[in-house]
Amino acid sequence: MDLKKYVRDIPDFPEEGISFKDITPLLQDANALASAADALFELIKNKKVDKVVGMESRGFFFAPLLATRLKAGFVPVRKRGKLPHQIISEPYALEYGTDVLEIHVDSILKGEKVLIHDDVLATGGTAKAVCKLIEKLGGEVIQCNFLLELKFLKGRDKLSGYAVEALIQY
Ligand code: PRP
Ligand code: MG
Repeated sequence: MDLKKYVRDIPDFPEEGISFKDITPLLQDANALASAADALFELIKNKKVDKVVGMESRGFFFAPLLATRLKAGFVPVRKRGKLPHQIISEPYALEYGTDVLEIHVDSILKGEKVLIHDDVLATGGTAKAVCKLIEKLGGEVIQCNFLLELKFLKGRDKLSGYAVEALIQY
């Protein structure tokens, strides 16, 4: 299935001059949704995975679906102040300034094999921060997989040393 047909460009969102890749048409189509989940699973199905880490918000669409297929647990990485238990945090760059991403300290055990999933790889800042969180807990990042990659932003360069896969590229 050509998943690109289900991604639409929204001009000037969230601000003037930005062309936003909207994946909601893909999510709301039963066949496209199933096909995307299957294809993301194909990218990792031959590797052992203990935990799938998805990042708030849009990483949550597919990460738990992948976790059930891989018979792995799902771990949320959340934005500042949302996780209730003991956390560690990692700063990441926003367009203006920085914020932090957080993970529960007991969510990943030493030596566990981890798949990171997010909807979009852009500059790679988000995914790199998530790699650092996982490694601080003693986990091993075995792949970062994305629905969509914006190649011109060179996120792969920031993730050098990690296995990076994406279903759709622009
Ligand atoms: C978007 C997207 C990725 C991230 C990619 O999330 O969902 O998580 O940006 O950008 P990067 O590679 O340059 O770090 P956003 O922070 O906009 O929030 P959302 O997922 O909550 O919508
Ligand atoms: Mg996001």
